[in-house]
Amino acid sequence: MGFKNELISWYRNHKRDLPWRNSTDAYLIWLSEIILQQTRVEQGMPYFLRFSEAYPTVKDFATASEDEILRLWQGLGYYSRGRNMLKTARKVMTDFDGTFPTAYADLITLTGVGEYTASAIASFSNNEAKAVVDGNVYRLLARYFGISTPINSTQGKKEFQALADELLNKKNAGEHNQAMIEFGALQCKPKNPNCEVCPFISSCFAYKHMQINVLPVKLKTLKIKERYFQFYIISNKKNQLIIKRRNNADIWAGLYDLPSIEFENAELSIPKPDNFTNWFKQTPIISAVSDQVKHILTHQRIFANTIEIDINAHDVIMQEGWIWVDFNELKNYGMPKLIFDFLKKIIN
Ligand code: ADE
Repeated sequence: MGFKNELISWYRNHKRDLPWRNSTDAYLIWLSEIILQQTRVEQGMPYFLRFSEAYPTVKDFATASEDEILRLWQGLGYYSRGRNMLKTARKVMTDFDGTFPTAYADLITLTGVGEYTASAIASFSNNEAKAVVDGNVYRLLARYFGISTPINSTQGKKEFQALADELLNKKNAGEHNQAMIEFGALQCKPKNPNCEVCPFISSCFAYKHMQINVLPVKLKTLKIKERYFQFYIISNKKNQLIIKRRNNADIWAGLYDLPSIEFENAELSIPKPDNFTNWFKQTPIISAVSDQVKHILTHQRIFANTIEIDINAHDVIMQEGWIWVDFNELKNYGMPKLIFDFLKKIIN
């Protein structure tokens, strides 16, 4: 038996009974795949069941509010997935007449749907001949074929995708893809794979050459840290606003920025009134709240928005380092690009 047949035969005997596998509904498959991004099956399962019960169709999902979605999403992390899903569900209603697309070319246009997810939905729902490559598939291919190209390099991604495409059973793409993922998840596990009972024991390169613990190869990348800030544009009637010099132990050392609050997570859209009592003698009026923007630094990703407050100078409790500066003096202070862009309409 060749690799493909051996794989399918293993899959039919060992597959788990997972709820999204009993359906070809592209909406439900999409739901499961987004939930399972960066999430283990056991952890994602209750969320899938909750979501599919609360929103049995894409129309139900699209009419939910962001608050409802994020409440159900609570505990899963990476909340942008939940927000992107709402965007996508609404786009399906407007651009696809409420029918969740099953063609790869349509799926890839949806927010939060990348190559892997588009291939998964297209093949599981409609048997489109698109090979999936996720962590499980990288591992299986690297070990079985003895490929040491780093899986997170550009070259590696190309090479593994080409191999998966070549290997794909084009007449049975959905089941083949499921089998590749399941084999990586249950049999060819990252640690302590079950080589002794593996159907590929006599043909696996890594087993034969004792490289199970070496393959797949992954390039070490520096961890990019994500940080979340709210910047306060506090101005008075005399065309002045408050800036402060940043200290030397952090990003933008010595540059000037705005009074700010750093948050531990992304949920920063609501101003924090706790700080208001420390900063202001009376509760200030917020005149504008900006959308969040993303700003990329070498080793950090900054997410930030601004809160605009108009207030009399004598109602501000000046904090260490804060200074009032005339709008027309702002150009004399060095600022990070992010802050400069926030203040563009004032600086000139
Ligand atoms: N992980 C991501 N997608 C999956 C799927 N369809 N089946 C099992 N595990 C998965």
